[in-house]
Amino acid sequence: MRTPDEAPTFGTSHGAALRLAVLSRGPRLYSTRRIVEEARARGLRVDVCDPMKFSLTVAEGSVDVLHKGERFAYDAVIPRIGHSITQHGVALLRHIEQLGMWTANTGQGILQSRDKLHASQILARNRLPVPRTAYVRDMVDIDQAISMVGGLPVVVKVTQGTQGDGVFLRHTAYEVRNLVQGLLMTGKSVLVQEYIAESHGRDIRALVVGDRVVAAMRRRARGREFRSNFHLNGTVEPVDLPEDYAEAACRAARVLGLNIAGVDLLEGANGPLVLEVNSSPGLEGIEKASGVNVAGAIVDFVMDDTAFGEVDLDQLLRTVPGSGVLTLQLRNHPRMVGRRLNEVFATIPVFALSRGDRLVWNPDEDTQLRFDDVLVCYGDLVQLRASLRKAMLGQPLMAADVEEHGDDETTAAP
Ligand SMILES: Nc1ncnc2c1ncn2[C@@H]1O[C@H](COP(=O)(O)OP(=O)(O)O)[C@@H](O)[C@H]1O
Ligand SMILES: [Mg+2]
Repeated sequence: MRTPDEAPTFGTSHGAALRLAVLSRGPRLYSTRRIVEEARARGLRVDVCDPMKFSLTVAEGSVDVLHKGERFAYDAVIPRIGHSITQHGVALLRHIEQLGMWTANTGQGILQSRDKLHASQILARNRLPVPRTAYVRDMVDIDQAISMVGGLPVVVKVTQGTQGDGVFLRHTAYEVRNLVQGLLMTGKSVLVQEYIAESHGRDIRALVVGDRVVAAMRRRARGREFRSNFHLNGTVEPVDLPEDYAEAACRAARVLGLNIAGVDLLEGANGPLVLEVNSSPGLEGIEKASGVNVAGAIVDFVMDDTAFGEVDLDQLLRTVPGSGVLTLQLRNHPRMVGRRLNEVFATIPVFALSRGDRLVWNPDEDTQLRFDDVLVCYGDLVQLRASLRKAMLGQPLMAADVEEHGDDETTAAP
């Protein structure tokens, strides 16, 4: 490894060294230390900033971030936000994103991956294989939940748990009821999940950086424990990741909006199952098990990617008054299935079509619509709703037809 002195300086577009902030409460933690070390070795100017030492201000037309009383100005941010400060960390990231600073993971990505229910909803909707899971709010639903996920035994988990805390294996309906009741009484949100017996006591952690898996390991639980978390004294070993596992890990990170993610996969009888996606993955176990310089890969990615900020398209497009993005799920509108875009629209407002795991930009006007398609439309919202409504009713529409209807059948993009 190079020392900082001999390292070349990596410049930004304006010539100066790239300034990187690692948002972390623990400058001495292994992962934070490693990222700092690799950044310095590449000539970056890097600081570790405590996410709890920020103040955020908003005023008309301006947002500002102060760190320990000084203006926070960096080219890139790597958030390492612990579970206990998720809310605050996400608020900080949103502020940083508003200022146009590049961040490795967005607040939105972190937030949705931290809630096991929300994450599995997004994963399932994007056709990623996940264990069957039921969300229970009421004791009367428990027996149904158990049968819905395939019967006993089942895994019970709280939606906000981490490091194996709040994950239980239960073998009888009586035990499940007792446990769930206790959890609901303490205000927890509870999931009942299919137990993947063939994966008992082990799982695979794939470390995704950008669009690829840079390292992977298998984790094994000790003794009779079924949870394989490193923090529960599990052991780690290298693994040769099969192609379908790598692809599932990358897609899971992508649909949750994370550039850097530790994806936990169970080895199911029919292939990988995505269990959860961690937005601040620990680096110690995986660097040691795989021998890969993961921190270096993260810093390389940051240097490559900082030039290209991500935007929230929906929010951006809404800055034009009255305009916005709407999506239309064809499954809810079977009458449009089988017809061509130019048969349903006189002027086509569709700028993207999501089909399976592909996204088609500016689809051809004679594209034939399928049951599983999702249309993504942009334009004046009043006109758009009117034209979509016409299309649903099966009449080709005239561009000038502008009539406001309810929006009960279209949904604004998330
Ligand atoms: N449905 C399941 N079937 C089999 N093992 C599971 C299941 N859910 C969790 N586990 C085991 O428990 C561990 C912790 O579960 P996980 O959902 O990742 O929670 P945490 O966020 O606490 O790590 C997993 O790594 C895995 O070994
Ligand atoms: Mg886990």
